[in-house]
Amino acid sequence: MKSFTSLMNIIETRKNIRFYGKKCESSMDFFTKELKDLLRVISAVSRNMKVSAYLVGGIVRDALLKIPNCDIDIVVDGNGVRFGERLARRLDARIEIHKKFMTAALALKEGQQIDIATSRVEFYYKPAQLPSVESGSIKQDLSRRDFTINSLALSLNRKDYGEILDFFGGREDLKNKKIKVLHKMSFIEDPTRIFRAVRFEKRLGFRMDKHTEALARSAVEMGIVSRVSGVRIRDELIHIMSEEKPFNAIKRLQDLGALSKIGIMVRNGKDYKEDMEKALNSLCKLDQYDRGKILKWRLLMAIMLKDKTARSIELWCLKLKIRKKDMFLIKDTVTNMPKVKKALKDEFSNEYSLYNELRQYPVELLAICHSWSGGYAKNIKKYYKRLVHVKLEISGEDLKDMGYSPSPVFKKVLQRVYRMKFNKKVSGREEELIAAGILMNSYTHNSTQVRSRAR
Ligand code: CTP
Repeated sequence: MKSFTSLMNIIETRKNIRFYGKKCESSMDFFTKELKDLLRVISAVSRNMKVSAYLVGGIVRDALLKIPNCDIDIVVDGNGVRFGERLARRLDARIEIHKKFMTAALALKEGQQIDIATSRVEFYYKPAQLPSVESGSIKQDLSRRDFTINSLALSLNRKDYGEILDFFGGREDLKNKKIKVLHKMSFIEDPTRIFRAVRFEKRLGFRMDKHTEALARSAVEMGIVSRVSGVRIRDELIHIMSEEKPFNAIKRLQDLGALSKIGIMVRNGKDYKEDMEKALNSLCKLDQYDRGKILKWRLLMAIMLKDKTARSIELWCLKLKIRKKDMFLIKDTVTNMPKVKKALKDEFSNEYSLYNELRQYPVELLAICHSWSGGYAKNIKKYYKRLVHVKLEISGEDLKDMGYSPSPVFKKVLQRVYRMKFNKKVSGREEELIAAGILMNSYTHNSTQVRSRAR
């Protein structure tokens, strides 16, 4: 039997649906039923707590552009943390609270995340630093955001449920495909917004207006970008490189002068674009074999850094706080490029040597190598299609069953049988067992002879 509270929840949600039914049609049409239901619950909680709640950020922008987005960002004109706690109880969600920023993050069982912020006025102590936060009204909160297109809010309140709040002309700019800052200090306060502006330009096919571009350029010239913490730059770069067509954004950042400020020089010629596009093409082809292992951003970063030395790549990655594992993979990709270029030019006839050659390299390098076509592509394809799947059907246990006691000879023998399997000298478990038996015999026989000669 359902508990009293859950019955009340259902009645309340139903009431909301009836009450809000009409108004939400226009602006919320694009949302899925699940999202609409969730927003109704959020609305009900805000009504109970007598605070105002708004859906904000990218999801509102994208809904108006009819682009799917499931990042739920809520701003509460009241205590966002207490609101988060109440909502978490209602949705039976996990909650993480950041008291300093007056925010809460809810993780629902279904995997959905809801970020809740207290409508806030942000004070930047120093340019390029993270803001400190104080409560304020929704309009003030929106006025502190990066661009007009991101300053839209959707009301979740009874009196105007589903209506868009547009204080700064965001809808007009969406229509005109313009990226505009809300105030002239925007890039100085937060230089990562230069990267965001470029990301939105390229993702949405928009353009910064003249004033915004001039502000971006002068912020870059002032050297503000290099004052941002490495982690924030890293996150922006990874974001950009994970977009669908990252090269255009990289080129635009280069044109704005922002890349050189973070220590990257991408030559202007066609070759980078071509290299990146071809490598991404190869990544798509190889992904069927190596699902998700080749990371797009690592691949592109290696291409961007391909003229640097191993040491300077390390220093650059350390500055950007790139994880050690990623740093080594990027560095290995770059430093092994010339070696691979030489070694894999022609198709390998010996499959075992091909396997041994390729298994030592990062998968990102294999994708780059595949993009050089000809013999390179053939070798990589063979590796993925056949060689990575070659597995022995016998193990040390079988050697023990043959009566041998475990010793380092086991490894040698199994490696040799493996090699024979690659070179198609044996096939199937029976043949592997016979080959292993012969090899074990000869190894043990030889070592007995050595021992008796020594005596
Ligand atoms: N925001 C901002 N300044 C930043 C980062 C974010 O003003 N440097 C604001 C914007 O209003 C943005 C919102 O916070 O819409 C949410 O940020 P985020 O989730 O990072 O960006 P989205 O706009 O949702 O973009 P994306 O679709 O790429 O996630």
